[in-house]
Amino acid sequence: MTTPPEITFAETDLDQIAAAPGRVVVFIGADARLDAGARRVNKLTRGGIMRLVAGEKFAKAKDGDILSVTYPMGMAADAVDVVRLEKRCSVEEARAAGAALAKMQGEQAVLILSGNHKHAAEIAFGFALRAYDFGPHKSEEPKTRGPVTMMASKPEELAAKAGPMAAVAEGVFFTRDLVNEPANILTTDDFAARLAAMQELGLEVEILEEAELAELGMNLLLSVGQGSASPSKVVIMRWNGGAADAAPLALVGKGVVFDTGGISLKPAAGMEDMTMDMGGAGVVSGVMRALALRKAKANVVGLVGLVENMPSSTATRPGDVVKSMKGDTVEIINTDAEGRLVLADVLWYAQERFEPTGVINLATLTGAIIIGLGHENAGVFSNDDAFCDAFLAAAKGEAEGAWRMPLSPAYDKQLKSRVADMKNVGGRPAGSITAGQFLQRFIKDGTPWIHLDIAGVASVKSDTTLAPAGATGWGVRALNRLIADKYEG
Ligand code: BES
Ligand code: MN
Ligand code: ZN
Repeated sequence: MTTPPEITFAETDLDQIAAAPGRVVVFIGADARLDAGARRVNKLTRGGIMRLVAGEKFAKAKDGDILSVTYPMGMAADAVDVVRLEKRCSVEEARAAGAALAKMQGEQAVLILSGNHKHAAEIAFGFALRAYDFGPHKSEEPKTRGPVTMMASKPEELAAKAGPMAAVAEGVFFTRDLVNEPANILTTDDFAARLAAMQELGLEVEILEEAELAELGMNLLLSVGQGSASPSKVVIMRWNGGAADAAPLALVGKGVVFDTGGISLKPAAGMEDMTMDMGGAGVVSGVMRALALRKAKANVVGLVGLVENMPSSTATRPGDVVKSMKGDTVEIINTDAEGRLVLADVLWYAQERFEPTGVINLATLTGAIIIGLGHENAGVFSNDDAFCDAFLAAAKGEAEGAWRMPLSPAYDKQLKSRVADMKNVGGRPAGSITAGQFLQRFIKDGTPWIHLDIAGVASVKSDTTLAPAGATGWGVRALNRLIADKYEG
């Protein structure tokens, strides 16, 4: 498993600066005022920092830009990184600055002189998030990052703030690993085993195998996996950090470990991207890990449907009619619209068994959401304005793009079937909305519900502020914040 770098918080000791190896980092705002750490670096370099700050480059620098002085005279360090950052910067800017430093690190040690910056913990969090690298399948030895130390005026206070953030970073890394992992490694068995291992963290983990799923009547889910040699599973993770009698929040994830499309086979070009079709389940798993690591005071249950969508002689055929756990029948017109089939049964099961106060499902559900929103925003669908607004606020606070889309019974006619209660596709128009309408049929009246279509944001081709190219971990931070803000008293 890829783990975030450990960042040590220490009392500011100016006398350690001269001999510090690697990179020494200082923060200076537009007013060009040096704090004690920057003043010491300036003194050691005989005015080097003052000259830099007086120069044209610094004048033109934007918030978050880094100006580096390499091999500074009078210091053991390879470089001094001057980060142009205001004392009163936003959380987002502080994280971006930390991320930019992580990107520059290489194998060196890093000494960050954070002074008394109010967002020092956020700088460390941004650093940790951007330090991710998915290396398990490269023969080349992974680069080992040097130790990272952040000096601050109140290191204990800072460490207390940074603790829960480190838990969230570890949750994000867990999600990214799952999403980046190829499907020959991350089989349904392997995925379930990784989740079972989280029992060590105090999570209750339960695995429902095919026989039990059949017993429960989860035929829609089973119909997706029946063409694969890998067994379908539902994994249930429970974190009970709240009041003993309080109903939980339920998180439900689509975990299609590989989506070939099934008999409605996808085209070859780009099919390799479907290793990320378990992204919803990956986010649910990462959130549960973060909650356990930071011992959240809330009751949350995470459920993931793990299946592989393969074509074979045992696969579901277009035209097959299958009865859901709820009892409604579905005509499967297109076996590539499989995510909604998996979710329908797991959503129903989650409500029947746990009577949750709310349900949030996540899924790389439709290509259409990418056409609508690109890779900048996930599609948000909900039957409850207050619940939805709370989520949108949390997403905004974490700078995770999220945009509400409509639901309406007007779209239901697209799902009418001649032979069954509904069909699983609604045609080209509003493809993401008809998928949402399909899911809503498996939500009980009165259950607050949010559906997050993360097809565009779960994994991206170029790097973003807080992540390298590939899996982003989108949603772990937003959901963690929603839980912290709304479910932890
Ligand atoms: N897993 C795909 C959606 C997807 C597409 C995720 C691109 C990430 C990137 C989903 O199972 C799917 O195949 N959806 C179909 C639905 C259609 C058949 C109604 C789609 O979007 O084309
Ligand atoms: Mn599909
Ligand atoms: Zn899919």
